[in-house]
Amino acid sequence: MEKLSVKYLGLHLKSPLIVSSSRLTSTPGLLKEAEDNGAGAVVLKSLFEEQINHSINIHPPGLYPEADDYLANYIKSNSVEEYLNLIRKAKEILNIPVIPSINCISSEGWTGFAKNIADAGADALEINVFFLPVDRKKNSVDSEKVYFNLIEKLKKVVNIPIVIKIGFRFSNILYMIDQFYMRGVNGVVMFNRFYEPDVNIDKIDIVPAAIFSTENEKRHVLRWIAMASSQDIKIDISASTGVHSGADAVKYLLAGAHSVQVCSVLYNKGIPFLREMNKQIENWMDRKGFGSVEEFRGKLNWHNYNKPIVFERTQFMKYFSAED
Ligand SMILES: Cc1cc2nc3c(=O)[nH]c(=O)nc-3n(C[C@H](O)[C@H](O)[C@H](O)COP(=O)(O)O)c2cc1C
Repeated sequence: MEKLSVKYLGLHLKSPLIVSSSRLTSTPGLLKEAEDNGAGAVVLKSLFEEQINHSINIHPPGLYPEADDYLANYIKSNSVEEYLNLIRKAKEILNIPVIPSINCISSEGWTGFAKNIADAGADALEINVFFLPVDRKKNSVDSEKVYFNLIEKLKKVVNIPIVIKIGFRFSNILYMIDQFYMRGVNGVVMFNRFYEPDVNIDKIDIVPAAIFSTENEKRHVLRWIAMASSQDIKIDISASTGVHSGADAVKYLLAGAHSVQVCSVLYNKGIPFLREMNKQIENWMDRKGFGSVEEFRGKLNWHNYNKPIVFERTQFMKYFSAED
């Protein structure tokens, strides 16, 4: 299996496949199952900023009583100490890297807590920034500052690698990744798959859109990974969204990802499917004569692929301007 090993955030992973943050990484039993079936690392289920701050004031109190109740219960039953214990337990029973995750909407109040996470033995820290720019009086510079302030505060309290899990709705993703790198961030997860709303027309109500991804969602991600990985900076990239097979993982690695996160497919097929995915990657490598992931990682990134933007543009014209 060493053949599948990769370096991510300076950590040794025996496989590029990481089980991404979700309920699948919320108990020691599930984490052990992930390791036993060949996960290269695990990102623990996110702890929320609100839990750390013990605050439910994300909106004026009383405006959404149902949300207030839910949050109050959630905070009570998912204590921060339990999260630290999960990290300690995971480090005790696993040999693979353990990466806790914090889901935040700001850098207010909670960032000092990152030190407790590092002290509990975390190998790195992943930050999922759930920031929606909904204030029309704020411009893109204001939105970007939310990220930069956060990184600055975190860098002051922890020495472990920091990873930012981002969405793809920036006016310039490559600029943001560059800025993250300059501020000492070690990795980016491309991309987060945010909760999205849908409409139930019978009930005339807002409902959650599909929670699980499909394979088709990779198309949003591939181009940006291929672009980001070809930049002259040493930030690591973890691909996330739409990985449902070993072949999907290979695509992201060819585009230049250092590791590949999986979630929906494991909900659908069970954690042991990781074993099958590793086998699929290995079989592909055998067929193509690759002895290590590093031999083919980034082979199709923006820099190495010899048909640059002109090629994409002409393909676009070819398919979308055809008469019939
Ligand atoms: C049920 C469920 C729970 C999730 N919980 C978290 C979470 O706590 N923190 C987080 O950063 N991402 C969370 N995610 C997002 C996943 O980590 C992942 O980024 C996303 O599902 C895209 O990957 P996939 O296409 O392999 O599912 C969750 C996803 C699902 C489906």
